Amino acid sequence: MTIEDWAAVRADVTAAFSPGSPVQEKDLFAGRGKQISALEDAVNQRGRHAIVYGERGVGKTSLVNILGLVSRRPNRDVIYVRVNADPTDTFTTLWRKVFKRLNYTAEVAGGSKRISDDFSGDITPDDVQLVLEQFSENQMPIIVLDEFDRIKQHQANILVADTIKALADYSVNATLVVVGVAEDVSTLIEGHESITRSLIQIKMPRMSTDELKQLVVTRYSRCGLSTDADAVWKIVFLSRGLPYYAHLLAMNAARFAISERRLTVRHTDIDKALDGSITELDQSIREDYMRAIRSQRGDDTLYASVLLACAFAQTDELGRFQQSAVAVPLNKLHPGKNYQASTYAMHMNSFCEEDRGNVLQRVGTPRAYRYRFADPMMQPFIILKGLNEGRLTDEIAQIFSTKPQMDLGLGPGI
Ligand SMILES: Nc1ncnc2c1ncn2[C@@H]1O[C@H](COP(=O)(O)OP(=O)(O)OP(=O)(O)O)[C@@H](O)[C@H]1O
Ligand SMILES: [Mg+2]
Repeated sequence: MTIEDWAAVRADVTAAFSPGSPVQEKDLFAGRGKQISALEDAVNQRGRHAIVYGERGVGKTSLVNILGLVSRRPNRDVIYVRVNADPTDTFTTLWRKVFKRLNYTAEVAGGSKRISDDFSGDITPDDVQLVLEQFSENQMPIIVLDEFDRIKQHQANILVADTIKALADYSVNATLVVVGVAEDVSTLIEGHESITRSLIQIKMPRMSTDELKQLVVTRYSRCGLSTDADAVWKIVFLSRGLPYYAHLLAMNAARFAISERRLTVRHTDIDKALDGSITELDQSIREDYMRAIRSQRGDDTLYASVLLACAFAQTDELGRFQQSAVAVPLNKLHPGKNYQASTYAMHMNSFCEEDRGNVLQRVGTPRAYRYRFADPMMQPFIILKGLNEGRLTDEIAQIFSTKPQMDLGLGPGI
């Protein structure tokens, strides 16, 4: 292969992975079959709408982007509009954003509606209903209100629930999808009780091992790269179910392999690419990490280890763990020390304080406290740092991740 060929493969890798942005292409979207079907049900049934909620960065926006693509039918024009809410938005400003795009999208789809000009004043749920009713039978508007958790105005939130109710009651042939970071529906949308029947609730979990595997392997195959089960597994377990990390690690490992003039990505390439991956991460995560683990008296270096052990603690399905669950990983990191909860309790408590940037949150009642990372993105970062600084070995890291049989499904020849 010539230098130009290698440069072309590298460019393909950079184009295939998108750690910084949601997926826009059907073939590059991994898994999530159940969630897509649920969203399609909302689109296909009149009077039904959807709410997509979950942790930051699990793939909510990517999912709704794909909905716009998979809903297309030969005899149906999908008019897909997604807007991001921001903290200053009111109901009116939010819908003005929608109407502007709706005009444009409807025109591109062959319709010729001009709507936004009529709404220079306040917009009400009734106005929204009127606008969405204007589309013909074979036009299917899908309106996504993304980043909905960022809206500060209480009234805007209530009016959106009212809108869903009106659209459902009048059986309007449009689908509204509300998307945001939240643990449950009630924190994302108020008054949801009155619209339960019209609202399909979709909780986005972290990605499964199979889904992450698919994410990596599809992209490598597209770039003409091969890999093995060890490499994929390493990317999977380091990502902790967060697709952002799978993109970042797989992309940088591939770049490293290419720099060595190889078309096969090995698990050691991920280690070699750790520096590169960490540097590409958001500066704020790195700063928060340093703030959380800094030692004030010079002799208290246990903060970094306790935080690393927290990142490996056995969690419940909401990512929460007990204080006692930290002992096993901590003692794996420091064999022979036999640390008890009484030693590291104060470290965990101070992780919940402002001084260490509230890296952990404590939830529940005093007898049954649970902890979780305030920012889910922090957890894989801590593990990457641990590996990169030699605080953590592969062997220890893998103890906490049960490796399933990895069939890469690549078929012969790869
Ligand atoms: N199903 C998927 N297949 C492949 N990559 C995915 C998938 N879902 C998400 N990603 C990738 O994961 C990252 C986060 O995705 P996305 O922006 O959709 O998440 P989000 O939940 O909307 O995040 P936020 O809470 O920050 O809005 C992006 O890099 C995106 O490309
Ligand atoms: Mg998003």
